Amino acid sequence: MTAKIIDGKAFAANVRARVAEHVARLNEVNGVTPGLAVVLVGEDPASEVYVRNKGKQTVAVGMNSYEHRLPAETTQAQLLELIDRLNADNDVHGILVQLPLPAHLDEALVINAIAPQKDVDGFHISNAGKLATGQKAMVPCTPLGCLMMLREMFGSLSGKNAVVVGRSNIVGKPMAQLLLRDSCTVTIAHSRTQDLGAVCRTADILVVAVGQPELIKGEHIKEGAVVIDVGMNRLTTEDGKAKLVGDVDFASARDRAGAITPVPGGVGPMTIACLLANTLTAACRIHGLSEPGDLTP
Ligand code: GUN
Repeated sequence: MTAKIIDGKAFAANVRARVAEHVARLNEVNGVTPGLAVVLVGEDPASEVYVRNKGKQTVAVGMNSYEHRLPAETTQAQLLELIDRLNADNDVHGILVQLPLPAHLDEALVINAIAPQKDVDGFHISNAGKLATGQKAMVPCTPLGCLMMLREMFGSLSGKNAVVVGRSNIVGKPMAQLLLRDSCTVTIAHSRTQDLGAVCRTADILVVAVGQPELIKGEHIKEGAVVIDVGMNRLTTEDGKAKLVGDVDFASARDRAGAITPVPGGVGPMTIACLLANTLTAACRIHGLSEPGDLTP
């Protein structure tokens, strides 16, 4: 079998177009323009690129973008003071603090200082708890993007065997919660799982987010399974060139899977698209307006 390649770039463009339509209507009918504040502490080059892309795409869908760049030596108190100001700012509906933070800052404390209704990353303990207990929450962007693509592929996910490889708070755990909410039978596997290949071969849906380049091979995949590769590993080839690969060995996996996301061009573009969707959702909730049903889980 040669897998269908899931075009995350096209899918993300479609999500952004739908966000833009909702934003235009919200502006015209309710006089509300959603605003997203992104906070970057320090000068991590990869984070710089992400933040620039987020800003551009936010403006492109008709939202306001507010960027706050703080020096690496910013104190915890200074960062918390900025978050307090953004929490109280009525023009700001979404707040994202770019991770990783410099080592002297307490990530959990900072994230939990964000007003939960403005936590468009869905990392606040209150949003994680709500997702786990089936309440309305802000949902982390990458798992939300994966869920949207899976729903598009399958329609209903009910009764499917789903295996999530990876147990991070950002992807693995919320992904498992979302699949469970859609009535999948969910297994979470990780670096200590015994016979990982055998576990993966039970999956109709295999989501891999472990951060290990090309860990999952074709032989670990059930014939016809849908494979979502969240990995983004930067490698250097023998001739010194930079190469981005996923957590799945694409060449062998595409001969077994029914459908697979490539790296790059699969899950990656969906993350920012879902951040914009979450900012729209947050603005609607904050103003007591009906939510964009097609963009919330
Ligand atoms: N750093 C890399 N990806 C992300 C993300 O999705 N959210 C935040 N806050 N930081 C990140």
